[in-house]
Amino acid sequence: MIAEQTKQGRLDREELVAFAIVLLIAGHDTTANVITLGTAALLENPEQLAALRADPELIPAAVEELLRYVSLVSALPRVAKEDIEIGGEVIRAGDSMMIGLASANYSADFVARPDDLDIHRASRHHVAFGYGIHQCLGQNLARAELEIAFRHC
Ligand code: HEM
Repeated sequence: MIAEQTKQGRLDREELVAFAIVLLIAGHDTTANVITLGTAALLENPEQLAALRADPELIPAAVEELLRYVSLVSALPRVAKEDIEIGGEVIRAGDSMMIGLASANYSADFVARPDDLDIHRASRHHVAFGYGIHQCLGQNLARAELEIAFRHC
């Protein structure tokens, strides 16, 4: 970014520092916390940990399930750009709201027995990385980091 953006005059120093802070918090804190909370979840569910250790091919599915189960970013603020109706409720343009990512990930409409950690299920369509145009830019890097970390659990 220094070579391609700041030195070319596209980003000033303040913008560069802001980007670095975003990447540190969005990119480091998140993954580090999913590793620690995911490890705690596996230790609390020893049969799941044993299954994972016995079959490393389960790691990608386990990472998705741990992302769902931990739901690190539990909610996000949004402002409605236009009137919308959700579940019979009208949200007016300009209204602010909190979108519950954890609530969606723990919905029984999404997975059966949502309170259980189950690394055998297909939970890839969770919203732990958000949804829509602001969906996490670093999700593939995060998945790779988590797969490496949980390979050594
Ligand atoms: C397990 C790890 C991670 C989780 C749970 C996570 C979660 C999220 C969520 C929920 C959002 C959506 C925010 C919104 O809609 O307002 C987001 C956005 C973002 N994430 Fe991640 N993230 C993770 C890892 C990373 C990594 C490793 C990077 C970069 C190295 C990263 C960079 C970003 C950036 C730049 C955005 C903003 C995207 C935008 O506003 O268009 N994240 N992340």
